[in-house]
Amino acid sequence: MIKLHDKHFKPFISSKEIDNVMQRLADEIAEDVGEEIPVFVGILNGSFMVVSDFVKKFKKPCEVTFIKLASYEGVKSTEDIQRLIGLTQDLTGRTVIILEDIIDTGNTLGEVHRIFKNENVKSLKIATLFYKPEAYKKDFKLHYIGIEIPNKFIVGYGLDYDGLGRNLPEVYQIKETQHMTNLVLFGPPGAGKGTQANFLKEKYNLVHISTGDVFRFNIKNETALGMLAKSFMDKGELVPDQVTIDMLNAEVEKNSDANGFIFDGFPRTNAQADSLDRLMDSKDSQINAMIALEVDDEILVKRLLERGKTSGRKDDADESIIRNRITEYYNKTAILKDYYTAQDKYFGVDGVGSIEDITVRLSKVIDNL
Ligand code: IMP
Ligand code: MG
Repeated sequence: MIKLHDKHFKPFISSKEIDNVMQRLADEIAEDVGEEIPVFVGILNGSFMVVSDFVKKFKKPCEVTFIKLASYEGVKSTEDIQRLIGLTQDLTGRTVIILEDIIDTGNTLGEVHRIFKNENVKSLKIATLFYKPEAYKKDFKLHYIGIEIPNKFIVGYGLDYDGLGRNLPEVYQIKETQHMTNLVLFGPPGAGKGTQANFLKEKYNLVHISTGDVFRFNIKNETALGMLAKSFMDKGELVPDQVTIDMLNAEVEKNSDANGFIFDGFPRTNAQADSLDRLMDSKDSQINAMIALEVDDEILVKRLLERGKTSGRKDDADESIIRNRITEYYNKTAILKDYYTAQDKYFGVDGVGSIEDITVRLSKVIDNL
């Protein structure tokens, strides 16, 4: 991953792949020009690298020239194309091939066609390394296309973001979501997970996603996913992971400006952990850590019995039920501890002490991520 100015970019197309594509374009064009000596016209600034690498692979006589146009501001194409340097030689009767780094809206290409309208060239063909079909709004024919790419901003290999990135030999794509801290919070019953989640979400501006709350919200509000989940529950069946993931996805999308998320109550299985990784990946993000509050069983039992005296929760009143819940927690989370340990993302935190002390311990882990 790289950062240019305020934005993060991820590796997208390797220099090896670019090299292969450039070779293919050069071979194709060399074959098509036959005996003609073509004039390659690069559109500055972006295409300097394309032109340089292309002509080295073009094993026939050719001429090279440039025109200089400008249309981009930041990460958006503008309609207003400035002609900074026009054609400086007579191209009457010549076979002209435009070499572009990228064709996006096609506005620049429109200007190129205006420039050549009265030049009386023999033929004008367009070659571009990258092409964004979803962004293209013109109907000028594109004769040679290197790679079709999605409508997302890229940098590298001549392409810049506000001046930076042109020198990168490979191409990077902008990250949809910028940097986030995403945590999976674990802890046996009575460990103080809820209390700590509340502190952490304030302190780090994170959104706390408790799967239980998300379920209750969707069912109460009769959302499509809530109704779907309920249909399984009514039959006494487990809600399929995909339904839960879809609900979590909706929560993540609702909070797209968050600094990150605290997942609580999910994942519970390896398959769910995999799905969560894929969900985060689809947001160009990732789970940064699984943090587990560690509290000795005897202390948990004491805490819960104490809570049971006032909470009225039946499952907090009976010591054998409490012990079962704790045992079940360890049985179920052991697999996840392994899952996240394998990714170097497991952090056990001592959950015994004052609330403040524990918050400090958790913060240390998060600050070091
Ligand atoms: P168009 O006029 O919208 O087709 O855009 C053409 C010009 O915009 C290119 O020559 C680039 O200079 C710039 N451009 C378009 N897409 C990108 C991109 O993803 N990254 C960097 N520059 C881009
Ligand atoms: Mg350009």
